Amino acid sequence: MPDPTPVVVTVTGAAGQIGYALLFRIASGAMLGPDTPVRLRLLEVPQAVQAAEGTAMELDDCAFPLLAGIDVLDDARAAFDGTNVALLVGARPRTAGMERGDLLSANGGIFKPQGEAINAGAADDIKVLVVGNPANTNAYIAAAHAPDVPKDRFTAMTRLDHNRALAQLAARTGSHVDDIRHLTIWGNHSATQYPDLTHATVRGTAATELVDPEWVERTFIPTVAKRGAAIIEARGASSAASAANAAIDHVHTWVTGTRADDWTSAGVVSDGSYGVPEGLVSSFPVTSTGGAWAIVPGLEVDEASRARIDASVAELVEEREAVRALGLV
Ligand code: NAD
Ligand code: LMR
Repeated sequence: MPDPTPVVVTVTGAAGQIGYALLFRIASGAMLGPDTPVRLRLLEVPQAVQAAEGTAMELDDCAFPLLAGIDVLDDARAAFDGTNVALLVGARPRTAGMERGDLLSANGGIFKPQGEAINAGAADDIKVLVVGNPANTNAYIAAAHAPDVPKDRFTAMTRLDHNRALAQLAARTGSHVDDIRHLTIWGNHSATQYPDLTHATVRGTAATELVDPEWVERTFIPTVAKRGAAIIEARGASSAASAANAAIDHVHTWVTGTRADDWTSAGVVSDGSYGVPEGLVSSFPVTSTGGAWAIVPGLEVDEASRARIDASVAELVEEREAVRALGLV
């Protein structure tokens, strides 16, 4: 029986809602697989360390065979020392009536020191997923402060939007989510995102042949793009278990790869593909092979899609200008 060295996984905001829905699944092996032991590092602000310690006690009480140890910390340098996978969840969620971009001034400041700490001490194979909102621009900030880490290791979560789009299309077409291929979320994890089914198929048939354009415009796109606000309204709190599930999916796909006949969506640092300015963290159709994301090249982008992608990218440019004005990059 092999006894591999545990993978060090650092989760920030460990005492929060998403943290509580995430940590037990990581420790159970759902994220990195049934043969990979994990050592958890829980990073919290000092006033939430006690609550995080409570969560650590519960993790112990699960007697997970793959859980090699837990440290609860309030110091970013210690928390990211030797880290292989970093899940940057810790940040304030929005409340009813706010857009995610409104959180920039409240949350942006968190990601500079965390980027610096990752740069200073993380393992050479570090993979970073930013969940805390506004996720794309927070990832941009963190990456900007980690000049020694390859930019493609910084990602932002749009997998929840991707999963939401799969669920909506499956329900509309009376199919199963597994029947769907080649859906894409483009742009920002915000209401301007573009859930694109122009390349999608359902059991091999083009999705555009199965749903009418009016449903796509009036129902599908707004339902996916505004789902976060709808959850906040219904639950009185922002999505937590579905967000944690999407984070597990994102890292699992990153580590194990996409299936040969599909792609997924992730916020990655743009290389200029599809006219998205280089350096912005934008959602794209992506595949993963050998632990590295690649933007799917050469897709045809029709005129309506172009306008929607441009609008979301314009918002990312505005957010970049805002963080520059705040002195965060
Ligand atoms: P929460 O308020 O329940 O928990 C946030 C936790 O982060 C708190 O325990 C807080 O103490 C901690 N924290 C704050 N600053 C920190 C720091 N500097 N270092 C470490 N920890 C810190 O919030 P939540 O519901 O868990 O949501 C967390 C974030 O995730 C929010 O910004 C939310 O908007 C975002 N989110 C993103 C997505 C997505 O799809 N990208 C989905 C859902 C939620
Ligand atoms: C979501 O999409 O559910 C999260 O980003 C929370 C939010 O503010 O919408």
